[in-house]
Order: sequence, then structure tokens, then C-alpha cells
Amino acid sequence: MCGIVGYLGPSKAAPVLLSELRCLEYRGYDSAGVAVIESGELVVLKAAGKLSNLETLLTDKKPTATVGIGHTRWATHGIPNDENAHPHTDCTGTIAVVHNGIIENYQALCAELTAAGHTLVSQTDTEVVSHLIEDEYKKCVLECNGDALLVAIERAVKRLEGAYALGIVSQKHPERIYAVNHNYSLSVGLGDGESFLASDSVAVRQFTNKLIRLEQSEIAEVTVNGARLFDFNGTFIDRQAIEVDMNPYIISKDGYRHFLLKEIHEQPISMRQTMGKYINHPDKPIDLRPTENGGGHFGNYGVNLTETQLKSIERINIVACGTANYAGMAGKYILEEICGIPVDVEIASEVRGRKPLLNDKTLCIAVSQSGETADTLAAFTEAQAAGAMSMGITNRADSHLSRITDNLMVTECGIEVSVAATKSFTAQVACFYVLALYIAETRKLLPPAEIFRLKQQLLLVPALQERILSQEKIIQQQSIKYAEAHDMLFMGRGINYPVALEGALKLKEISYIHASGYAAGELKHGPIAVLDAKVPVVTIVVPGKVYEKTLSNAQEAKARNAQMIAVATEGDDRAKGIFDTIFTIPQVDELFSPLVTVLPLQLMSYFIADYLGKDVDQPRNLAKSVTVE
Ligand code: M6R
Repeated sequence: MCGIVGYLGPSKAAPVLLSELRCLEYRGYDSAGVAVIESGELVVLKAAGKLSNLETLLTDKKPTATVGIGHTRWATHGIPNDENAHPHTDCTGTIAVVHNGIIENYQALCAELTAAGHTLVSQTDTEVVSHLIEDEYKKCVLECNGDALLVAIERAVKRLEGAYALGIVSQKHPERIYAVNHNYSLSVGLGDGESFLASDSVAVRQFTNKLIRLEQSEIAEVTVNGARLFDFNGTFIDRQAIEVDMNPYIISKDGYRHFLLKEIHEQPISMRQTMGKYINHPDKPIDLRPTENGGGHFGNYGVNLTETQLKSIERINIVACGTANYAGMAGKYILEEICGIPVDVEIASEVRGRKPLLNDKTLCIAVSQSGETADTLAAFTEAQAAGAMSMGITNRADSHLSRITDNLMVTECGIEVSVAATKSFTAQVACFYVLALYIAETRKLLPPAEIFRLKQQLLLVPALQERILSQEKIIQQQSIKYAEAHDMLFMGRGINYPVALEGALKLKEISYIHASGYAAGELKHGPIAVLDAKVPVVTIVVPGKVYEKTLSNAQEAKARNAQMIAVATEGDDRAKGIFDTIFTIPQVDELFSPLVTVLPLQLMSYFIADYLGKDVDQPRNLAKSVTVE
């Protein structure tokens, strides 16, 4: 979704801002813009569409300014056009603002500002901010002993309701950029005589490894010499920059055609890294506690739940959206199977407005690759407010989620650039196995030998994934036969039901083919009506408790002439008798099978989408992290 960047230093700002904005492209956007201070004048350049449109403007105008802010906008209030693109200025054209998030009371503020004689030209909620600062600045210049612009910003932001991050420049102070964070994410990067700003630290990490994260309700005054932090009352906050590990955040396709394909292939390594962090050896107890250096992360990290708390959990409530929600559904099967604790999984956006039935014996787990998904964060904070214990599973230790809980498991996937989640899904599911085994160890729920066996099985999974990935060419040939389909059904039972949902989501996200996932037993209760010879049905069938029943459900589809595809185990002769196409997987314990069965489905979606010529890394209408409810 929206992205904020900034630069201040000896170099020309425009190329740096563009380079920062490029790092944020993966988040999804529909317009982009910059504001620079060129020879003492504020200059705003912005354009709807891809960054290349903004680049053309910058090539034309060739600004030489060395200070500026930039933005990629994903439209929420007002259509994606030039006018609504950020930055937004005030009536005097001297203050420019870029904004992520939503100003919930913008309509009231807009009415007030208009009545006071301001002219607002866009349909956005953002524009009120520049006009509020304009008003406050006029007053502060007369009233304030201190710094008028800083005080004006403090006063203006106190009037805003909602969650937001802001970047602000004023031509009156070309030596500074201001950054404001309120329940959002914003980081300042400190270089040698230059400073950077970004809502996603990935954009800054290409230039420096010294980062300062703005916490809740903070303002940073950024100069070439560093950043001074204040709360909204102007109280100085002393915080030093943290040195971060830049490697996992290098954005590169590494020779792959698409980020998506690269990320599918990265799963064995991200799984090994994620599990390896918590499981040293199957013989040793799992350790989720924070490590001294924060695990090399920029942000909170580690689980601080005490043994007493872990023993007191009576119920687990998982909140998440999209793919992360399906990882949570797999988590339910895992936690219930290993720990015997009842688990509910909620679509995070469905939590709002409902009576919270949680208490201090409930552990609420938010699962979010980005750690920024507004629906997930809202559901999570409601659970916290209801008194539940809380824990996050995220790929971004520097995210908002990491700020609002003391208990964080971090998936070690490195940056996931493709909008469609792949490696984050398997790493999230891996976290659920680790967590379940951790709880089982702490609560002595299983004999040590069984826990040892389960850990061993889990640690073998990346090697099984590698075997599937080595069959990529076969999967490609098998997949593109189905590229002309208009509808596809995915079904699985038990722990592979969430995989069916994820398979369907992947296909529709990147190929735009309509696809639905079902619990295999549900097919006969309705969806079977849509089946005919034109509809491929993908069945996930692995040996285990639900094998027979899943095969019966597949037979029901076959009897309706559907095109039959399976993800099935090597050497499964019964499957061979039913399915036209089989994506074979190695033998795997049913309990761990989602980590394996999902891979052929990811590859199938990728190959179909690529065959159809779709923009697989940035599918239409989608954003990588959805920061509005
Ligand atoms: O960053 P999050 O994991 O919270 O994102 C949640 C969903 O928006 C995300 O999983 C979405 O469904 C992806 N596009 C899936 O490919």
C-alpha cells in the first residue's frame, strides 16, 4: 500500500527518492510523487500510474534539490489520479505532506478548514494535514518562543484521529524533514552526512544499516546530522540508532524470471532458518525466548510468556487475513493435535464490532507477514483489550505488530517481494509446529520421545520441499494444460483443507482464474453443482486419517466428468486410477504435509499465470500489505 520516503544530504534528492520508492513498489500503489525544495522553492511533481511516469517528470524537470520527500499511493479516499497523488500542499504552497494511513476525522477538519477560507483541491483525507500545519504555523510564528514549525506540527497532529505516518517538508526550513508516526511504521536512516526516511525500512537499508524506528505518537526532526525525536507534547526522546543486518533485505531476483518463483524456491532455506532459530537439536528443548542482540533484527523479537502463562492457556484465538489466515487454520490443526488446546481462527476483519469472548486464559495469536495489516492489528488489539495474552507471528520484526506485543515469533524469510505470499506461508506454518511443540514441552503434554520424533520429522521437511522443487519442469508441463480453465476447484480434508484454500487463493490472485477451495467433504453439499468436463478439480490427498474419505470425495467429482488433478504421494496407485494429472510429493507424515503439499500448488499457479502473461509479482488491484481496514 502507500509508502513514504525522504532524503536530506549532499546528493541530488530525486534519484535517491526514486530509488527508495522503487523498493516500495512491491507493496502496491497506483500513483507516486515527490516534493523537493529547489533553490528555496517547494516543487511538487506527481503522477498517476507506475513510477516510470514520475521518473519521466523528474527527467524533464531535472531538480537539483538535495532535500525531499516522496510517496507511493494506493488509493483509499479519491480515485488514483494526479490530483490525489501525494505530496499535498497547503494554500501557500510552501508545506508538503505525504501520508500513510487514514485520517478518520478528515471530513470534519475539511469542513472547518474550508469555512476558515482554505482551498482544498484533492479528494484525499491527507490534504487537511498540510492546511492544519499552515494554520498552526501562522499562529506559532507569532506565539512560540521555540521552533514554530515543530510546534505547529505537534499541534496539527494532535487534531488528527486515526492511524497514520507522515513525512513533511517546508520551504521555510529546507534543512529539515519532519516525520510523524502514530500507530503506523516509519524509520529514519542515518548515513554519513545524510539522512533517509522510509515507512518500510527496506527502502533505507540500501543506503545505510543505521536505523531509528519511530514508536507510537512520535515526531522526528531529521537533518543531515541525524534525528531528534519528540513526543506529541514536544518532550525530547533520547533514542540511538540500531545497526541492522541488511542482507535479508536486498531486493534481487537472483536470476529468476520473477520474485514469486524465487520466493517459492527459497522455502527450504527460509524454513531451515526459521526452525533452526528455535530448535537447535531435536534433543534440546525449544527456546523461543528473546536473544541478547534481538536476533539481528530491527525491532522486538522473542517470546516472553512465562511458564505459568503458558500453562494457563485454555484457548487459542488466531487472527489473520488471506494467506496468513490459512496458515492460522493449519495452525489450528497443529495446536489441537499436538497440544489438545481448542483453537479458533478468525478472519481478522470479521472481529470488529463483535462481542469479544476472550479472557486472560486465552492466547491471541496474530499472524501477518508484513505485521502491518490493519484488519489483523485491529482484531489483535481488541483481544488485548479484552485481557487476552498476545503473541505475533510475522516476517517483519520492525513492523507495527512487533511494537504492540512482547511475544513475537519471526519467520526468517528475508523480504517477500511478490505480492502473492508463498515462503511466508510455509514459514508461518512452521512457526505453529514449533510453538505447539514448545507448549507440549512446557506443559509436558507428550512423552519426550514423541516430541523428539516430531522435531526430527519437522526438520526433515525442507529436504522434501527441495525434492518437489527439483521437479519444477514436470510441474510446469502438467500445469499449463489447465491454463484455459475459467473456474477451478481445490479440495482437501483435515490439515490439507487450509492448503486447498491457499491453492485456490494463489491461483486467483496471480492468474485471475476464478478458483474456490473447499473442505472435500463439503463438495457434495453444494459446490458439486458447478462441476462438468470444463472444470478442473484439484484434490490434496496424502496417506493418513482422512485419506480414504478424500479419495471418495474425488470419486464424486470424477463421476461428474470433472478434470481430475491431485497432489498425491509418489507410488500411490489408487490415486493413479482416479486422477488425470498427479503432482507427486514424497512420503510425508500427514501432520507435516501442508508444508509439502502446498508447493506444487504454488508452482502450478505461477506457471499458469506466467503462461497467460500476467503480472505475477504485482497482480492487478492487490497490495502487499493492506494497511487500511
Ligand atoms: O501481511 P499479511 O500477512 O498480514 O497479509 C495478509 C494478506 O493480505 C495476504 O496474505 C494476502 O492474502 C496475500 N496477497 C496472499 O498472497
